[in-house]
Amino acid sequence: MPDFTKEVKAFAPATVANVGCGFDVLGFAIHGLGDTVTAVLSDKPGVRITRITGDGGRLPVETEKNTAGLAVQALLNKTGKMDETGIELSIEKKMPLGSGLGSSAASSVAAVVAVNALLGEPFSKNELLPFAVEGELAASGTAHADNVAAALFGGFILVKNHQPPDVISLHTPDKLHCTLIHPGIEIQTKNSRMILKKQVSLEKAVTQWGNVGALIAGLYTEDYDLIGRSLHDEIIEPVRSLLIPGFDRMKAAAMDAGALGCSISGSGPSVFALSTSKSEAETIGRKMGDVLDEIGLEFDIHISKINTQGAAVEVIRNV
Ligand code: HSE
Repeated sequence: MPDFTKEVKAFAPATVANVGCGFDVLGFAIHGLGDTVTAVLSDKPGVRITRITGDGGRLPVETEKNTAGLAVQALLNKTGKMDETGIELSIEKKMPLGSGLGSSAASSVAAVVAVNALLGEPFSKNELLPFAVEGELAASGTAHADNVAAALFGGFILVKNHQPPDVISLHTPDKLHCTLIHPGIEIQTKNSRMILKKQVSLEKAVTQWGNVGALIAGLYTEDYDLIGRSLHDEIIEPVRSLLIPGFDRMKAAAMDAGALGCSISGSGPSVFALSTSKSEAETIGRKMGDVLDEIGLEFDIHISKINTQGAAVEVIRNV
């Protein structure tokens, strides 16, 4: 018998996709930013979004247009009980939209985690991944799983295959700190994917997969120098960085301030830098901020260790 008095609230973190060299295959989660989704059962079958806060009224509440709504619909379809189950979702955005920090993924992942708990955990965490990818498909036009996998599992992840998703959780060295600078402009993932070249030279491909392999080796051996030497993107960054005012100067400032490496977070405009201490991460943030101050562009800075927990249920209560 469904429990109509139960309410489940889940949180999913913001994420940095690509991690420089790993376009569409690498990602990690951070602390502090993300989305909360609250799910309750309803006696009216179907998925409805009753409220969205923190989005400035910009996200669609129609289930078929909302990433969280679509992800939960995919989940319900799989249960085979779509016709008899009613779900109401309330979404709290606690992170900026169009920022390159995995905003759509955070909504989809928090939603499927909340609904799974509401229904008595019919699916494992691994099994939830394809549902969240459905939401991403709607948001960006491609079923890339790097943000959703990092948000769901936490830590560093490698997406070996997108559909069906095959994701490997990687080792996360404890000292790593991430500095994020979010300039006050928006870039839609759909648009920043459209400008990418569809072909790469063999020479660039060789450099890139050398860096991806070495970065993963660096994570496992906690070799911070190797992580830094591998954080180079020969293919995507040269194109997308043109959309980010002051990118080259911010990156140079981060490297001068001791960053291991620095690149675009996801599809931008946020830029991330990795370092090995909080004080270094803060100095890097200040130096990058100085560049945007000079340009006259507003920004937010966020400092975080890597979030190894990923999405989780925060509250289950009777209403
Ligand atoms: N890997 C995706 C991209 C992430 O770079 O387009 C989008 O946040």
